[in-house]
Amino acid sequence: MGLKRDTILEARGIRKVFRTGSEELEVLRQVDLEVAQGELLAIMGVSGVGKSTLLHILGTLDRPTAGQLRIAGTEVVRLGDDDLARFRNRHIGFVFQFHHLLPEFSALENAMLPALVAGQPAEAVRAEGVALLESVGLGKRLHHRPGEMSGGECQRVAVARALIRKPLVVLADEPSGNLDAATSQHLHEMIRQLSREHQQAFVIMTHDRVLAESMDRLGHLEWGMLRMEDGSGGGAP
Ligand SMILES: Nc1ncnc2c1ncn2[C@@H]1O[C@H](COP(=O)(O)OP(=O)(O)O)[C@@H](O)[C@H]1O
Ligand SMILES: [Mg+2]
Repeated sequence: MGLKRDTILEARGIRKVFRTGSEELEVLRQVDLEVAQGELLAIMGVSGVGKSTLLHILGTLDRPTAGQLRIAGTEVVRLGDDDLARFRNRHIGFVFQFHHLLPEFSALENAMLPALVAGQPAEAVRAEGVALLESVGLGKRLHHRPGEMSGGECQRVAVARALIRKPLVVLADEPSGNLDAATSQHLHEMIRQLSREHQQAFVIMTHDRVLAESMDRLGHLEWGMLRMEDGSGGGAP
């Protein structure tokens, strides 16, 4: 590996305005952000400041009003909806505050789903799903359904699901928001390990100071701008 790691995600001048009727709400004014391959980045901000909005834009789930977004060398804002959906499935993993697992499927089936949707061969996906669930400590919960698992276990299944396609970027929106302190500590430790092992970048929106400080870099979203604590990777121009 070289001295400087490759940039895997680069956002420039991201602006987002929501229009409802005659009202305009400028949630993001100008967000600049660079994330290196394998980097762990936390973004903190009070409720309502725009963390989820930014995460959805970085994840190509929503389009910015203005600005550029380059992920794994692709200018994603230019892609049409179908190409974008394929790109997202291939390169980006998501973990949300609520696990959003499908209740009628097992842990293993839930973890396998994004890869099956992408048309990967079921046997290989199954082996990968088992390995991932083992690596998040759920080797004995493969056939449990979400209703038969704890909140922390469900969230770990959600992490396995986010990783099944081996995405280069994983975006997490308050992943431990619903977990007790010990469980969330465990989840964060696991995220650090997985990121190191697979050289995957994680961008984690959180208001958990302890989690945020255990990441490689920490930024604050305020007034529609992102300010990094070490002054790097964007913030106020
Ligand atoms: N689709 C939308 N339409 C209009 N306003 C929205 C929409 N999504 C979010 N907002 C507003 O944008 C602001 C930021 O929301 P959000 O990104 O969810 O904040 P956070 O995740 O930091 O709590 C809030 O004031 C919210 O009401
Ligand atoms: Mg939010």
